[in-house]
Amino acid sequence: MRVLVIGSGAREHALVLAMAQDPSVTALGCAPGNAGTQGVAEQLGLPEVSDPAEVTALARRWAADLVVIGPEVPLVAGAADAVRAEGIACFGPSAAAARIEGSKTFAKDVMAAAGVPTAHAETVDNPAHLDAALARFGPTFVVKDDGLAAGKGVVVSSDLDLARAHAMTLLDGGHPVLLESFLDGPEMSLFCLVDGLTVVPLLPAQDFKRVGDGDIGPNTGGMGAYTPLPWADFGLVDDVVTRIVAPVVAELDRRGVPFNGLLYAGIALTSTGPQVVEFNARFGDPETQAVLALLRTPLATLLNAAATGTLAEQPELDWAPGAAVAVVVAADGYPGTPRFGDVITGADAEGVLHAGTRRRDDGAVVSAGGRVLSVIGTGEDLAAARAEAYRRVAEIKLPGSHYRSDIGLAAVEGRVAVPAGG
Ligand code: GLY
Repeated sequence: MRVLVIGSGAREHALVLAMAQDPSVTALGCAPGNAGTQGVAEQLGLPEVSDPAEVTALARRWAADLVVIGPEVPLVAGAADAVRAEGIACFGPSAAAARIEGSKTFAKDVMAAAGVPTAHAETVDNPAHLDAALARFGPTFVVKDDGLAAGKGVVVSSDLDLARAHAMTLLDGGHPVLLESFLDGPEMSLFCLVDGLTVVPLLPAQDFKRVGDGDIGPNTGGMGAYTPLPWADFGLVDDVVTRIVAPVVAELDRRGVPFNGLLYAGIALTSTGPQVVEFNARFGDPETQAVLALLRTPLATLLNAAATGTLAEQPELDWAPGAAVAVVVAADGYPGTPRFGDVITGADAEGVLHAGTRRRDDGAVVSAGGRVLSVIGTGEDLAAARAEAYRRVAEIKLPGSHYRSDIGLAAVEGRVAVPAGG
C-alpha cells in the first residue's frame, strides 16, 4: 500500500514513523513534510496544503492508495472529498463532517440533537450584544473563536475586561464569538478512529495548552502531552464513547454527513460527569506523538480500515505497557512571533519528532516554525516516561527556545482528580 501523508508537523512525523513499521506499507510519502519526515518518507512538494485540487493532483501523480490528511484546514476546505472523488481511499472527514471542528455552532447543534452533555453556549456576531451576553456568563469567562484558530482562539479568564477585549478582537476581525459556561475538572483528549459508524478509541491523553509551567500565559497549539491517564477510572473511555462519541457519530450519519477519520473529543471530567469542551476532526498535536509511541497495531492498516469502512473487522488494538510523554520545544517568541532560522543541535536524536524545522543545504537543521520539536519519552510508568523525555530535551540546543518543565508532573504527584460526583 502506497500511503501519502499530508502535513508538516510533529503529528505527521509521528504518523509516518508509525506507518513505516507497518508491513503492508510499500511506499510512504509526506507532503510538504519537514526535516524529520524527510528521513522516513519521500518528501513531496505541495505548495498549498489547504488546496483540495493540489492535494488530489499529488495523490494521483504519486499513485497513492491511501491519503492521510493531518491538519484541519485542508479537511475543512474539502480535501478528503476531492481525494475520494478520484477513487483514492482517504483517512479524513468530508468538509461537511469536518464542520464539527470548523464551526463550533454546528458542533453545538449536533451535540444538542445527540443529547450529549456540553457547556452551555451562545454565539455573538454583533458587538452591540456582547456586554449583555457576557453578563449571562462567568466569571469564569470562556470566549472562543467560532471558526478554526489553531488552538489559539480561546481565552479562559475571570477578568471581564480581558474576556471582552478578546471577544472584540475576534468580532473586529469578522469572526463570530462563542461564549461558553466554564467546565470544572481535568480535561482529557480522547481520539477515536471512525469509519462512518464504528468507533475505536485510542488511549486517552492529556495536553497542556498554556505556554508556561503551572498553566500560566497565553494558549498555544499545545506544549506537551502524556498518555495514559493514571488518575482516570477504568471504564472512563468506554463510558465517554457510549455517552458522547457514538451518539455524535450516529447523529452525523443521520444527517447524511458520516464522519470518516479521527474524531477528537476534548472532554472535561466535571463534578456532573464528562462534558464536551470541543470536537476536532483530526489527530491532536502533541497528544498524537505520545499516543502513537505506545501503539503496536500496524497504523496504516488501521487507518485504511477506517477509510474503507472496515474498522469493525480489525482485531483489538495492541498497546505497549507503560506511559509516554511528549514535551514541545518552542522557538524564541512563540506563541507570539517566533524567530526562525536558528540552528538546532540534537534534532536527529532518537525520540525527537520535528515540527517547525527545515534542513539547510549544508545539512544543518534550523527552526522554521513556532513549535519546533516534540521530544518523546516512554517508560514503565509516567514518572519514568517523563524522566526520559526531559533527559532527551536537555540534550537539544536551540538558542532562545523554551519548553514547559511540568508536563505530566501533577499526575505523577497525584494532584489530578475528577471532582466529587463526576
Ligand atoms: N492538542 C490540541 C489540538 O490538537 O487541538
